[in-house]
Amino acid sequence: MTSTFTCILLFLASATAVWAQQCRLIAHNDLASAPTQTSGSGGGSPASISATATGAQPSASASTNASSFNYGTDVIRGVNLGGWFVLEPWITPSIFENTNNTDIVDEYTFGQLLDADYASSVLEQHWNTWITEDDLKAINAAGLNHVRIPIGYWSVPITSADTNYSTDVSPYVTGAWPYILRALNWANENSVHVILDLHGAPASQNGFDNSGQRGSADWANNSTNIERTLDIIRFIAGKVGGMVNVIELLNEPAGWVSDIGSAIGPYWKDGYSVVRNVTGMENQVMIGDAFLGVDDWQNFLLPPEGEDVIMDYHQYQVFNYDQLELSQDQHINYTCQINATLAPYAKSNLRTITGEWSNAITDCAKWLNGRNVGARWDGTYTSGQQTFGSCDGMTGNFSTFSTDYKTFLRKYWEAQVAIGESVQGWIFWTWKAENADEWSYQRGLEGGWIPQDPTDRMYPDICSS
Ligand SMILES: *[C@@H]1O[C@H](CO)[C@@H](O)[C@H](O)[C@H]1NC(C)=O
Ligand SMILES: *[C@@H]1O[C@H](CO)[C@@H](O)[C@H](O)[C@H]1NC(C)=O
Ligand SMILES: *[C@@H]1O[C@H](CO)[C@@H](O)[C@H](O)[C@H]1NC(C)=O
Ligand SMILES: *[C@@H]1O[C@H](CO)[C@@H](O)[C@H](O)[C@H]1NC(C)=O
Ligand SMILES: *[C@@H]1O[C@H](CO)[C@@H](O)[C@H](O)[C@H]1NC(C)=O
Ligand SMILES: *[C@@H]1O[C@H](CO)[C@@H](O)[C@H](O)[C@H]1NC(C)=O
Ligand SMILES: *[C@@H]1O[C@H](CO)[C@@H](O)[C@H](O)[C@H]1NC(C)=O
Ligand SMILES: *[C@@H]1O[C@H](CO)[C@@H](O)[C@H](O)[C@H]1NC(C)=O
Ligand SMILES: *[C@@H]1O[C@H](CO)[C@@H](O)[C@H](O)[C@H]1NC(C)=O
Repeated sequence: MTSTFTCILLFLASATAVWAQQCRLIAHNDLASAPTQTSGSGGGSPASISATATGAQPSASASTNASSFNYGTDVIRGVNLGGWFVLEPWITPSIFENTNNTDIVDEYTFGQLLDADYASSVLEQHWNTWITEDDLKAINAAGLNHVRIPIGYWSVPITSADTNYSTDVSPYVTGAWPYILRALNWANENSVHVILDLHGAPASQNGFDNSGQRGSADWANNSTNIERTLDIIRFIAGKVGGMVNVIELLNEPAGWVSDIGSAIGPYWKDGYSVVRNVTGMENQVMIGDAFLGVDDWQNFLLPPEGEDVIMDYHQYQVFNYDQLELSQDQHINYTCQINATLAPYAKSNLRTITGEWSNAITDCAKWLNGRNVGARWDGTYTSGQQTFGSCDGMTGNFSTFSTDYKTFLRKYWEAQVAIGESVQGWIFWTWKAENADEWSYQRGLEGGWIPQDPTDRMYPDICSS
């Protein structure tokens, strides 16, 4: 890792804290058979079928519109639909608090430590309400042309006919697939393109709670996990490749873990072939830098070996002390400097997007560092370290944000958008969070620091000064 990387997170792998970079994309679809898949999928409660009533069936017109975006020419402007099909304690703390069990720290323990009927009913309710079609309408109305939808492998109803590897996903709660299909239809009906993103893989590709399972990143310990993941990608491409533009093979694999670092290049190439074998040239295929920096991926999957491949680069400035100590102006400068690496890479290598970034300059959002974990910013993360101030007025409801802070949030948003638009585009993390408005595109629109038209600029030369 070099200092040019921008996303850092404490990797809660073991007794030794390992610093690592934190950072964070359907077809041939058998349009006719998908509804059948829906009603029988996942072993969730039959109640999930309420999802189908409102349109989980893929519509035939969907794939037409999904292909109308010109990758490489048009600018990707989007938001992530975080915390929906992969729970994150900081995005929906209420779901975790309501369990009355502090050992429940991620979706895995949510399934493991709760009564199965209770866990299923809570998640069905969440899948049904966290994002609705009105959100897709609002996203379209905000001038955004893409959503990136993170999903866990446990929500993909692969059967033993589709793989020679395990299909067991316990203790995860299954049953999200019909809601995922409904989401894809909503996106298509509202002219929003979809990046379907495999955000959690068997045994966890990064050990972050946002992979489903906090702890160690064991995905590459056993080649069966990797082969199984390729079968899951094949299934996804087969069932919904025609409903999405982009299939992202895996979110944020922990390239600093040696076996993952060795496995990830071959996985990207195999995953690329799997998608091509299933849907031809219909989908863009997205890979990531695995926290190694884009320059580690020079000459990778370029034509003729790969076509229509996108590099997903993530950047946050809140997960280490060196970044937290930056002044507001320095955060802007830091952002602008990223262009020096990203723009040349995108020009001579893969099309590149900033697929995750936010307006946060503190780690104050409750449980951002994990459930029961505090913030570096105010010293509640660990003792004996540098602190930066109070978290009051830095997170939560923007009614507590000062005018100066909101002015900064606008500048910071514009600087990060400028970087994204210097390559092939950007996707903000995230659309909604229960109580962390600096992370919420929806609340940024309401609060005025994100413009209703994402091409509006108050600071058009923010990276030139
Ligand atoms: C958590 O505690 C509250 C208050 O005692 C109770 O109403 C609720 O049912 C409990 N939730 C669970 C999942 O046990
Ligand atoms: C499972 O293995 C058999 C024997 O190698 C092979 O023919 C078959 O295609 C495999 N099935 C899948 C779904 O990969
Ligand atoms: C797809 O795009 C066409 C042309 O822009 C439009 O007429 C049609 O209504 C769209 N279909 C859907 C399902 O959005
Ligand atoms: C998998 O590999 C990781 C990293 O090398 C290691 O920490 C972990 O103990 C291994 N897990 C298993 C189950 O072998
Ligand atoms: C890998 O996983 C498979 C299936 O769970 C198991 O049979 C095999 O023993 C594992 N291999 C290693 C080296 O742990
Ligand atoms: C894709 O198809 C080709 C030709 O059938 C085959 O050689 C290759 O193994 C397939 N790749 C994957 C990853 O399934
Ligand atoms: C801007 O950032 C670069 C690289 O991080 C650094 O070298 C430079 O000193 C910064 N400039 C200012 C004015 O902070
Ligand atoms: C934010 O605070 C305002 C003013 O106290 C309140 O009216 C509003 O309901 C709060 N919004 C949210 C989303 O909590
Ligand atoms: C990023 O760098 C490219 C040249 O590589 C330049 O054309 C572009 O204006 C830069 N963008 C910003 C926001 O500085």
